[in-house]
Amino acid sequence: MNLSDCHNFQQFRKLAKRRLPSPIFHYIDGAADDEVTYRRNTSAYDSVDLVPNVLRGVEDVDMSVEVMGQKLDMPVYCAPTALQRLFHHEGERAVARAATKHGTMFGVSSLATVAVEEIEKLAPGPKMFQFYFHKDRGLNDALLERAKAANFNVMALTVDTITGGNRERDLRTGFTAPPRLTPASLLSFAMHPSWAMNFLLSEKFDMPHLSGHVSAGTNIAVSVGEYFSTMLDQSMNWKDAEELCAKWGGQFALKGIMSVEDAKRAVDIGCTGIMVSNHGGRQLDGSRAPFDQLAEICDAVGDKIDVICEGGIQRGTHVLKALSVGAKACSGGRLYLYALAAAGQAGVEKALGNLRTEIERDMKLMGATALDQLGRDNLRYRNAA
Ligand code: LAC
Repeated sequence: MNLSDCHNFQQFRKLAKRRLPSPIFHYIDGAADDEVTYRRNTSAYDSVDLVPNVLRGVEDVDMSVEVMGQKLDMPVYCAPTALQRLFHHEGERAVARAATKHGTMFGVSSLATVAVEEIEKLAPGPKMFQFYFHKDRGLNDALLERAKAANFNVMALTVDTITGGNRERDLRTGFTAPPRLTPASLLSFAMHPSWAMNFLLSEKFDMPHLSGHVSAGTNIAVSVGEYFSTMLDQSMNWKDAEELCAKWGGQFALKGIMSVEDAKRAVDIGCTGIMVSNHGGRQLDGSRAPFDQLAEICDAVGDKIDVICEGGIQRGTHVLKALSVGAKACSGGRLYLYALAAAGQAGVEKALGNLRTEIERDMKLMGATALDQLGRDNLRYRNAA
């Protein structure tokens, strides 16, 4: 099996599983507790059926959108995710180039393995910086300043990681950043020699946004759960978010909003976007799926703020369903991370290309030449209450 066989999400996942040492694969693939929310994030889309229109003259289809002031050539972008050079030695560089080629946005994490200054040089298109609010205020200021100086267009404060989720696969495999060498992990690296060679031959593992400030994650190996629980500021509140939004002074989003009450408060503090998200099911298991929660959030704030549906997206039809409910765009992590692990930049390009092809085909089949032609009339809920 290789890249040309990857026609969908599941095939990229299979190839990633083959290429990656198992602690790293399970870090991407895993979620919290019993992973119920993780599974529901995708199955939620099956609770709704599409109702197409026909005879609309659909030879030219425009799938571009404007999200938080950014013009995107497709209604899906790469959500910020951590530690990408562990998944493929090109890491964030590969994702930045692939997203730029597709004219879409990508996010760079506070826990990225390539610095924003380098990303700026290789990706002229729209860029989002993901912010973790640390106890270390000097680090917080530095993150903001660096993202601003590197001309990032959107700042997204993650609000659903106030403590570490219970990721039992990571507990089982002992996954840490940087990778801790144990007999089991060494064996797993030895069984994946091309990954191991690439990892060892590329520049030393680093998280350049953090390493001048804290040693956890760079000099001291920690799990991501531990990092959240010990390094992030659990006293973070709405006032902190409002101050950060004002300090940034540009497009600002809260990532990980699930309740209508919080969505309204995001509007009140001056946000221009929210990601309806449960962090890929990696934090609170039993939390509702973003797609299930989308309608009530769009009804409450959809005319005041850009609502992004994040999580569970595997197909073009998932995107069309979310946009029909009222999301401005969709984003996801695993939708490009398995592809990154499978084949670097070429993999991410193909994953985004597959989604693009599906969205175009599905728009035609729905009788829509532009995304604003889709609405709730095009949907029917199964088992509607
Ligand atoms: C995670 C963080 C780092 O979910 O976003 O692992």
